[in-house]
Amino acid sequence: MTRDVIIACDFPSADATYTFLDRFIDERPFVKVGMELYYAEGPSIVRELHRRGHKIFLDLKLHDIPNTVQKAMSVLSSLQVDMVNLHAAGTKAMMEAALRGLTRADGSRPLLLAVTQLTSTSEERMHDELLISSSINDCVCHYAELAHDAGLDGVVCSPLEAEMVKQRCGQGFLTVTPGIRFADGNVGDHVRITTPADARRKGSDYIVVGRPITAADDPVTAYHRCVKEFVL
Ligand code: C5P
Repeated sequence: MTRDVIIACDFPSADATYTFLDRFIDERPFVKVGMELYYAEGPSIVRELHRRGHKIFLDLKLHDIPNTVQKAMSVLSSLQVDMVNLHAAGTKAMMEAALRGLTRADGSRPLLLAVTQLTSTSEERMHDELLISSSINDCVCHYAELAHDAGLDGVVCSPLEAEMVKQRCGQGFLTVTPGIRFADGNVGDHVRITTPADARRKGSDYIVVGRPITAADDPVTAYHRCVKEFVL
């Protein structure tokens, strides 16, 4: 089974990203390019990271009408990324359209994941602001099943939800889990978090780790700590 640590490269520029990644001499970590970096630099950042040998999760969380998402996905598909994502809240029709857009003429495509509920969303906010009256667990499972039925490869969710998603959608359905903090680290803006070791016990396939690595005094050591707890 593939288990890996993905570093969230939430940097404002290509220069800041390369300065950070140049500290990694002996390894080529799997990296996540999110909205901040992609909107600042465009596709060139993805091409350069690919050229440098990194696997790439392009985290743009698409959410629009099916036709728009399909066309956007077919553009993203031409970039050499390994994973892309969208919001399951965009409906099953949108997810199916996304898959069509992503699939290349030869049938290959990057992995496609659905965001269930962001790990910054509490059950209380989901009830009061989004007017979703189910429990957060039921909502996450329901969105995961929709994504599974639409043919997606997995979901982005809290590690605390990975086990139940796998029970509903099967062990092969990927769980990519942000909201990771070391036992002795800062929680930041997440509500539903866990440690790398706990994420492993709960069955996550990939953990996405940003500030615990990028803001560490020694990012390479922090990365190795994640790998040791989660992968080895
Ligand atoms: O710094 P931190 O470890 O909190 O970074 C988490 C990363 O995971 C951020 O890039 C954030 O955009 C991303 N994220 C996500 N899906 C969520 C929650 C966070 O992709 N549900």
